[in-house]
Amino acid sequence: MTLSDGLSRRGMLMKLGILLNGAVGVVLAVPIVRYILSPVIRERTSGYESWLSLGPLGQFPTGQTRLATYRNPVVNPADGETANIPCWVRNVDGEKFQVFAINCAHLGCPVRWFPQSGLFMCPCHGGVYYADGSLASGPPPRGLFTYHYKLEQGNLFINAGEMPTTGAPTASLTNISLRRPPCA
Ligand code: FES
Repeated sequence: MTLSDGLSRRGMLMKLGILLNGAVGVVLAVPIVRYILSPVIRERTSGYESWLSLGPLGQFPTGQTRLATYRNPVVNPADGETANIPCWVRNVDGEKFQVFAINCAHLGCPVRWFPQSGLFMCPCHGGVYYADGSLASGPPPRGLFTYHYKLEQGNLFINAGEMPTTGAPTASLTNISLRRPPCA
């Protein structure tokens, strides 16, 4: 084996290594680039942002807050019961409603309505919300997320299909309060 043979073999291995590293880099970069561009390129599946009925208005007596459930229209067969999404419906005066996401605005635990105190309370870190969904106390940085709603033919409909979060179009941030920083 000559010196020139050794050098050419080393050069060839070097090129092969660079080629393999490049291929691995491309494979790793694809999901990262897709993640970064996902807000722009993601597909809107059918059912995304659908108007869904929560039931007849008679289920929601004036002045009361009741639990309702809807079936997430963006669903996979394997989702099962997890696609049944609960929410809180507040009938303010028979004409005005509020529909709150059940998830706490802190870390998403399901909040519970206590009619005796007129408060929503979160079991996880003590977040408390007033009846209108605004923040009363605790670590959540804002009030409860609300769904857009409409009344049609005696039924209450909400605009759903994507879980309400800070960046979701169905989220209403009118109850934002930045009085308290989120806890660690
Ligand atoms: S998840 Fe509700 S207070 Fe933290």
